[in-house]
Amino acid sequence: MAARRRYGAVFRSNDLIAGEVFHIADRASIEQMFKWKPTDYNVGEPRQPMEPVTGPSSILLLDAERHLRMRKLMLPAFHGDAIADYAELIEQITQREIDGWRPGERIRTRTAAQAITMEVIIRAVFGITDSERVAELKGVLPRLSSINPLLAFEAMRRDLGPRSPWGRFVRDRDRVDEMLYEEIQRRRNEPDLDRHKDILTLLLSARDEDGRPLTDRELRDELITLLLAGHETTATSIGWAFERLLRTPRALEPLTAEVKKGHNGDYIDAVIKETLRVRPVVSEVFRAPTQPTELGGFLFAPRTQLAASILLVQYDPELYPPDPLAFRPERFLEDAPEPYTWIPFGGGVRRCLGAAFAQLEMKVVISAILARTRLRASRATSEKARFRGVTLLPSRGGEAIVESVD
Ligand code: HEM
Repeated sequence: MAARRRYGAVFRSNDLIAGEVFHIADRASIEQMFKWKPTDYNVGEPRQPMEPVTGPSSILLLDAERHLRMRKLMLPAFHGDAIADYAELIEQITQREIDGWRPGERIRTRTAAQAITMEVIIRAVFGITDSERVAELKGVLPRLSSINPLLAFEAMRRDLGPRSPWGRFVRDRDRVDEMLYEEIQRRRNEPDLDRHKDILTLLLSARDEDGRPLTDRELRDELITLLLAGHETTATSIGWAFERLLRTPRALEPLTAEVKKGHNGDYIDAVIKETLRVRPVVSEVFRAPTQPTELGGFLFAPRTQLAASILLVQYDPELYPPDPLAFRPERFLEDAPEPYTWIPFGGGVRRCLGAAFAQLEMKVVISAILARTRLRASRATSEKARFRGVTLLPSRGGEAIVESVD
């Protein structure tokens, strides 16, 4: 925010990990970026370090035509109607998590939500129901998703046996792959596929414009991608929702009253929107133009890294007056946000595929917790936002004391 104030809506940073990046902080330029055609820009190159986990056909790493083909194949599975059915499953998983809470206990809502969102991915996305397999995956998958620091450095990628960090990673990944390929095979051999209602089933029946289905390799890569893109982001947003709510009685009280009545009013949606506005887990999204491109009064050379700053647009005092930092869900009851002013899921053809899924998950998990428990913040001061790469985490994980559980 200080850089924005000092240097204006376009400013540059340069560090060892990200290299030179131009940050774009005004709504009009970001609107322009989100309207670029698929061939106007790339996003895959800076994400290459993720390839050992996601595999080469991950939608996150593809650009232009190949990206568009994959996006069209995956999109129907994430449509609002297709995902509404998962609410019941998410609710059951949340109730089981709450069953383990005791009055007086100190919990980290982000960690609790991570256990929930992980299981949601295993059951609703991978469609795995066998409890032994679910338990094994719950053990090994978090190790795969936390490997990122190692991936940034080529030199660290050496297999020095099962005890070395990379060796352990390769073995974990191979075990996960084995389980996913088995699951894919089992489904392919099953005549009544339609009995299952999960994302894998929908992806298995998807066909591209030439009538081709996804290969096993592509299916595996997209399943892991959905885990990586969908599990921590959603859990962290739930952690932030509690971090804010437990310090804002004005918002917590009407929300608790609404969820205890058991009906879904508008307030929960406003709380989710406001959480994603004041604490956007992904603070910026990257685009590298493929040709010389004018933006915000500057001319950028091809391959320049341009970062659309979600955080700075959502903190713009002109767009969210008078106090953009205040947590005030009512603002979303008064007016729908203007286009390109509320952008926690990015925009254009790269917009988050799981946006509806994530908001459904946030809604069900937050409602279920508030309906059954009373929580208070472990300390009165706000938790600091800690940056990990471009993600924004609550410094104490949305810590809370459980006062009562029904
Ligand atoms: C609150 C939770 C979430 C947030 C804040 C979030 C945010 C984002 C953002 C900012 C992007 C990049 C958009 C851009 O470049 O314009 C993205 C991409 C993506 N997200 Fe999410 N996400 C969340 C949850 C999920 C979930 C639950 C899933 C799936 C189960 C998911 C799947 C994806 C995929 C597949 C992409 C890549 C889309 C593409 O490149 O075409 N996300 N997400």
